[in-house]
Amino acid sequence: MPTSSPTRFAQLTTGLALCGTLGLAPALAQTAPTTLTVQVNKPGAPVSPVMYGLFFEDINFAADGGLYPELVKNKSFEIQGQHFIGWNAIKGAAGLQAYTVVSDKPISATNNHFARLTAARANPDAGLINEGFRGMGVKQGADYTFSVYLRRGAGNVSGLNVTLEEQGRQSSGPVAATSGKTLAQAQITGLTNEWKKYTVVLKPTGTAAKAQLRLTMEGAGTLDLDVVSLFPKDTWKNRENGLRTDLVQLLKDMQPGFLRFPGGCIVEGRTLSERYQWKETIGDVAARVPLINRWNMEFKHRSTPDYYQSFGLGFFEYFQLSEDIGAEPVPILNVGMACQFNSSELAPVTSSTAPGGPNAAEAHSHDDDPTLETFIQDALDLVEFANGPASSPWGAKRVAMGHPAPFNLKYIGIGNEQWGPQYLERYEPFMKAVKAKYPNINIVSSAGPSPDGDLFDKATTRLRELKAEVIDEHYYASPEWFRQNAGRYDNYPTTGSKIFAGEYAAQTVAIGSPDNKNSWDTAISEAAFMTGLERNADKVVMASYAPMLAHVDAWQWTPDMIWFDNLRSYGTPNYYVQKLFSLNKGTTMLPVQLSAGAKNGQDNLFSSAVADDKTGEIVVKLVNYSASARPITVSLQGVKKLGKTGKATVLASPDLNAVNSLDQPMNIAPKDASFKVSSSNVTYTLAPNSFTVLRIPGKR
Ligand code: AHR
Repeated sequence: MPTSSPTRFAQLTTGLALCGTLGLAPALAQTAPTTLTVQVNKPGAPVSPVMYGLFFEDINFAADGGLYPELVKNKSFEIQGQHFIGWNAIKGAAGLQAYTVVSDKPISATNNHFARLTAARANPDAGLINEGFRGMGVKQGADYTFSVYLRRGAGNVSGLNVTLEEQGRQSSGPVAATSGKTLAQAQITGLTNEWKKYTVVLKPTGTAAKAQLRLTMEGAGTLDLDVVSLFPKDTWKNRENGLRTDLVQLLKDMQPGFLRFPGGCIVEGRTLSERYQWKETIGDVAARVPLINRWNMEFKHRSTPDYYQSFGLGFFEYFQLSEDIGAEPVPILNVGMACQFNSSELAPVTSSTAPGGPNAAEAHSHDDDPTLETFIQDALDLVEFANGPASSPWGAKRVAMGHPAPFNLKYIGIGNEQWGPQYLERYEPFMKAVKAKYPNINIVSSAGPSPDGDLFDKATTRLRELKAEVIDEHYYASPEWFRQNAGRYDNYPTTGSKIFAGEYAAQTVAIGSPDNKNSWDTAISEAAFMTGLERNADKVVMASYAPMLAHVDAWQWTPDMIWFDNLRSYGTPNYYVQKLFSLNKGTTMLPVQLSAGAKNGQDNLFSSAVADDKTGEIVVKLVNYSASARPITVSLQGVKKLGKTGKATVLASPDLNAVNSLDQPMNIAPKDASFKVSSSNVTYTLAPNSFTVLRIPGKR
């Protein structure tokens, strides 16, 4: 542990408050229009083409139970010590003599546990129920592929009855929920004494957000079952192991520049043995072995002991998702450190990887007790997996998974949210080994969990000395902090390392507080801050809100950008802020000025501007953080080819506490209107508490 560890996560785990300020800014008297000068004829830096992206982490049931639409929880009975998590014997096993987890002649060496059911006599209750992820969301008339591996043992079991049904009365303890209305039924027959995969399509007669899967034996005797799956046919691009369509659509609609994955602290694990290992997440889905999810018990107030990672959504799928939504993949890799908020375990730096030692890529190590070399080799292999030819060992694995073309990986992150000398002494050899083999890969490095303080300063100084390409800064703070820090990057160096605002979100109460809300106050304050990112296009090249997804019944961390249940999803006001910045990122930064010496945010007016050279428009972003409407004149200095009609997109609410919800998903959502442009002095009235994007036809 560092001698002085940052306090942010400590607040997170102990629940201490970081005070946010809610409430309205003092109302401004209606005055003459404020003039905002946009220096169209003095363009600044190009806007990074990957400026606004996505941060994905499997937190809040974001993967299993979320983006990854497998409906069966714990399909392979592989969870150590909890082999029946998600499964309950019907009526407390009244119809069964026994149900056990067994490893006798399993279907594969990695998937080497399965369920064995024994019934002394035929009984309609001889079986198990799978509860899904807080139930199973199924839609009337849609197709769901049920598949299972079965092997008949002693006795005369002639089949497996498969029933998709609504959950009945909820129970506690080992007794399964009772059965509700039947939604679909099938019977599998033709069992043999060898493992065989059976598949049948279920078509529910009704829609249910909380269905369950009931499996019962036909006849008496013993039946082995494994890899039980119920998967919607309706997936993104109709892929067999595809992703949930409504969630991918929300992501794609943002036109994200990049997708950061798989996290987040999940990269690190609470211990090194629980770290995320990408190699365990590729290949045959049935052979991927689940791992505990580090968020399961992190917060006592949102304890989720049944939270595991199935890795059905693994690195291949992340790359594919990036490609599908047009985002650059940004995998973040473990740097040989377990989470410093938890065990702080470290992989030793051996002489071959110490700065100045031989090239790490040539060194060897064993994963049982991994040294830093293991982690470096994983990174090198990942680049080969993503970009290598079919003739390379790891490239061949990608090709075998059905993607002959390279994924064109350009970025990797070394470490998630690490700090202290332990990070820097691992980062340096890691970065050098990657650069030695892959000089064109851009490396993202970590500035730690706090956006300021001694550890932040030391990390930043050293990373700049090491000529780090992109430094990842994180900030979770009050809405007020976001507004007050709109000028954060104004005095950053214009040369050398660039900034990735890799995780940020305004917190209404405190970091980690279960009472945080995705209020309009948080979103409008983030918009105010983001005008500062945009103004500093020469320094800030990537930005992503975090976390991205949360299940309304299974979350650990709030606020989050997109919320969902088993059937529905919605974007928060924060989602729409991110989306508007992304869709209107333009191509070249244009300097803006309220009046000589005025700071961004003076009188609670925040602004930035870009030229969009692709469409021939000047794009001005304005945040009016006040309870009054505000007339404004946008003075476009030196603009050419001015058009006649502009487009305004407005996100606004008089109520800073307003939120979106599953029932009111568009309570705060962008509204478009057109406005007249009659000269280079464009007049417009900003709504109270609004974020407005003006697209004005005109060139630089
Ligand atoms: O976004 C939630 C967590 O916040 C991330 O996992 C971690 O990087 C940060 O501490």
